[in-house]
Amino acid sequence: TRIVFRTSEGDDHPVEVEPGTSLMLAAISNGLDGIVGECGGSAMCATCHVYIAEEDDSRVPPRAPIEDDMLESAADEVTARSRLGCQIPVTPEMDGMVVQMPSCQY
Ligand code: FES
Repeated sequence: TRIVFRTSEGDDHPVEVEPGTSLMLAAISNGLDGIVGECGGSAMCATCHVYIAEEDDSRVPPRAPIEDDMLESAADEVTARSRLGCQIPVTPEMDGMVVQMPSCQY
């Protein structure tokens, strides 16, 4: 599945991701430093903050309450588009999806 990670400067980094891998791990295993994933994916840190476009809402699971709680401590602006990348497993339906990364994770 092809996921396009977009930096806050607007640079696109397309990567191939095995379905089932989280967006957080996909970014880290491809060396993208826009996502940190400090807690290793347990929804305990908010350094995997990403933005998912409204048009892609149907392709990702709805935002869970645990994400709402953790996102309160995210470094960059939190919007209705904010998600924790570690809580979104990649599926084939996400092929071509753009994941916007914030300007900072700390
Ligand atoms: Fe820590 Fe996602 S990696 S909350």
